[in-house]
Order: sequence, then C-alpha cells, then structure tokens
Amino acid sequence: MTQKNTTLKNKSPLDGKRLLLIIGGGIAAYKCLDLIRRLREKGMTVRVILTRSGAEFVTPLSISSLSGEKVYTDLFSLTDEAEMGHIRLSREADLVLVAPATANMMAKMAAGLADNLATTALLATDKPVMIAPSMNSRMWEHAASRRNLQQLKEDGVHIIPPASGELACGEEGTGRLAEVEDMVGAIAFFFEPSGALTDKHILITAGPTYEAIDPVRYMANRSSGKQGYAIARALADLGAKVTLISGPTNLAAPAGLQTIPVESAAEMLAACQNALPADVAICVAAVADWRVSNCAGQKIKKQDGALPALQLTENPDILKILSTDKVNRPELVIGFAAETENIAENAQAKRTKKGCDWIVANDVSTKDGPSVMGGDYNKVILFRGKDREDWPAGHKDEIAKNLAQKIAEFYA
Ligand code: CTP
Repeated sequence: MTQKNTTLKNKSPLDGKRLLLIIGGGIAAYKCLDLIRRLREKGMTVRVILTRSGAEFVTPLSISSLSGEKVYTDLFSLTDEAEMGHIRLSREADLVLVAPATANMMAKMAAGLADNLATTALLATDKPVMIAPSMNSRMWEHAASRRNLQQLKEDGVHIIPPASGELACGEEGTGRLAEVEDMVGAIAFFFEPSGALTDKHILITAGPTYEAIDPVRYMANRSSGKQGYAIARALADLGAKVTLISGPTNLAAPAGLQTIPVESAAEMLAACQNALPADVAICVAAVADWRVSNCAGQKIKKQDGALPALQLTENPDILKILSTDKVNRPELVIGFAAETENIAENAQAKRTKKGCDWIVANDVSTKDGPSVMGGDYNKVILFRGKDREDWPAGHKDEIAKNLAQKIAEFYA
C-alpha cells in the first residue's frame, strides 16, 4: 500500500468537520473539556455556547484554551452579535451537540422555547442535532422526561444514551453523562455510518431451534427471529460481511448477506463453527435447552393413554462454546439473555458464566404489555463488562441499529 493510501485510510471521519457544542448546566460539564480536546485531536473544529448554568461548572477561559475559539455565552451581547449572530453560529457547523443535556434543556428543546442563546441557536439551526442527556435517575425516568425524549426523537434529534451507575448526587441509576470515548464514537459514527464495519465478518444466530421427538413432532422455544434478523440487516447496512445462522422462522432471508438455515441446536453449532473465523459473534437465537436423546425413527403412536418415555439430554451451549474457543474465539462475543425476573442480575450472571464480552438483557415477561417474543418491540439493557446502559423501549429495528452502532464504535 502506498503512503498516500495509508494516509487516506487513516483519516478520521471527524477531520475537517465543525461542531457547535452547547454545554448545559450539569456537574458532568467538566467532561466536555476532555471531549473538546479529543475532538480537536481528530481534526474537528469545536465552537462552544456555554449556558449560564453551564458556566457554574466550567469557565469560558478553560473552554477557549482547549477549543482555541471564542466562547459564546450571552444572547444579547453586542460584541457577539456584531462578530457572529446566533443564526450564523447555529449554521456554521456540521453538527450541533448538547452535552450535558439537562432535563430542563430537553424540556425546552421539546417545547421549542428560545429564551437564551443556546435554545435560540437550537431553534434557528438547520443542521442535525445530537444530545447527551445527564441528570438524576428519577428525573430521567419521570414521565415528563420520557415524553420529551420521545418528542425529540420524533423531531429527528440523535440521542447518546446516558450510562448507569453511581451518579454525582450519590444515588445509583441511569442518568450519568456518556463517557467521552462514547461521545466521540457516536459523533464519528454520525459522520461515517456506512462502511464502518466493512472489513468485519459477523456471525449471528437467530430464531428458535427445533428438536425432533419423532419425524412429525418437535420441541422448540418461542422465537420469531425478528430481533436477530434486524441486527443482521443493521450490520450489513454498515458494510459488515454477515453470516446469519437461523433456526426455522417465517421471515424472508435478508438481502445482501448469507443466511444458513438450520433446524436443531446441534446443526446451529456446526454451522457456527463452520463459519469461523469471525470478528464478532452475536447469539440471539432462542436455542432449545434440551433435545430428545431417544428420538423415534417412526411416528410415535398413541397407546390408550400410556405416555411415551421421552429422555432429554442437554444441548450444547453455542454462546459458551464460541466464547471459550481457544483457537477461533471472535474478538467480540455478544449474548442475549431472555429473562422474566431479576433481569439485570440474571443477565450479568449469564455473561460471566458463559464468558461473553457483552450481554443484551431483555425482559420477555408479559407483565408490561405484549410479549417481546414474536412482537415488534423490545426493551433491553446492554452490559459491556460492568458498564450498564438501559435503553428506552423501541422497535426491534431501532434496537438493532443501536447495537450495530455500538459495535461500530467498538472498532472506531
Ligand atoms: N444460548 C446458546 N446455546 C444454548 C443456550 C443459549 O447459544 N444452548 C445463548 C442464547 O443465544 C443467548 C444466551 O445463550 O445468547 C442466553 O440464552 P438464554 O435462553 O437466555 O439462557 P440459557 O442459557 O438458556 O439459560 P436459562 O434457560 O437457564 O435462562
């Protein structure tokens, strides 16, 4: 490869891009200083609007030292308006990011208020807007914040979800501003989503497995395959070479990727091992835990109420086998945990037991409405090691896109 090609390949998607960063009033505002530094290292120009409450946490001097630009603070500043009006400020950017986006800021944005420079610029901009929310977990979970978040999503605002853990107020929960590298990753992904996974081979298991009792009957788990297929499509859209190993479903094989149909867990395992090596493996399939070891060669006939003596044996655990493969372990192995109670605890225990890197926990109970299994919607928690992210409920396509983005960010 020539020197020129190497340089081209290594160019950051942020190089030469312009960000308007609106720093809101939250304790996490300090993270924006590191964010500015990291973005500038990647060749981005960062201009900052510091809200009045943001200025309680970080100073204009520290921001301008890092950004190398004037910091804008006041809507009615005569010098600011003479130098650069709020309209120009809001449009001379490729992306507007609000971080930390407080509950108050989100409410104002959702309502379309324009009562200071930041909110005025947000209303005046014709550029894409992204927010990184940060607040106390009760505020994040409040019905008003849910509504505002939904409104912002409908308005086309991109969301960098907050992380979970210990919050500045001492409480535990969701609401911590995303880590700086996650924000950098989300911005890079925004500018270059397609092709982010071009050279990656990704293996996905999906759907149920059927375990034969006799030539006519079988045992299976409930699974439509919709979530696994959506993930396969989302990853293919990012340029990955996807091998989808699917148990029996009613879904059409997605275009642009290889689908290998299988029936039993044993076949699914063999197909996975055959498809290795892979960079990433994602086990979404609802694999039957047991199979009938004395599967009959002919249809078992009913015999006046006498029940057939089915002997069960445990199926291989595909996720565990891939996670512990000494020769061909994919660099990133992701499992799903279908749980009906103690969702987070059970999922984390499963991640440790099976040795995968990330686990996506989903609540498959029907207590909060229609079942996830077979339905179009899902609500998940993503665990990356100990790092926890509770994602708002969404369409399976949306969950799939978010997961694909996280994988792209992992490689960014
Ligand atoms: N899995 C697998 N092979 C199996 C069983 C499960 O690859 N034989 C994978 C699933 O695809 C999923 C994860 O393991 O990624 C967890 O599956 P789940 O059904 O939630 O858990 P189980 O391991 O079956 O445990 P339990 O039934 O006790 O909850």
